[in-house]
Amino acid sequence: METKRILFVCLGNICRSPAAETIFGKLASESGLTVKVDSAGTSGWHEGEKADPRMRHFAKERGYNITSIARKFRPTDFDDFDMIIAMDDSNYEHLINLANNSGHKNKVSRMAEYIREKGFNEIPDPYYGGDEGFTLVIDLLEYGSKKLIADLKKKTNDK
Ligand code: 4NP
Repeated sequence: METKRILFVCLGNICRSPAAETIFGKLASESGLTVKVDSAGTSGWHEGEKADPRMRHFAKERGYNITSIARKFRPTDFDDFDMIIAMDDSNYEHLINLANNSGHKNKVSRMAEYIREKGFNEIPDPYYGGDEGFTLVIDLLEYGSKKLIADLKKKTNDK
């Protein structure tokens, strides 16, 4: 089976996208899917930093060990990944504006596609809020990751 390369993108790469990378990566590997995962920020504000301690704490409580180090999205990511998944609409618009051909634009999608039934159209930014924002991010990412895994498995089976 070919290895899917998936990049999760948010603003700072210290809260939502490192959580997405870790949660999706763990659930995908438990489900037997071969994937390469990474995450990046549309900004480089936190480049080189570990994920936000609050995000790491609440993820750990749910069995996810976030170890990624923040980096900024780079144009070569458009070639290095098959899917580039934005956490919110602003991240999505940013990525679409950076893409300079339709092949690259077509790789960009929103995590929201996988969480519609939950009544959310974005993964809400938890950075300036309370603890409940972080647990909500984990809930939505677990739900969305399972949907995405089911989608990828279906596509492989349909081939
Ligand atoms: P993230 O959250 O995009 O989920 O990593 C944020 C992290 C940092 C900032 C904003 C959002 N910031 O303004 O520094």
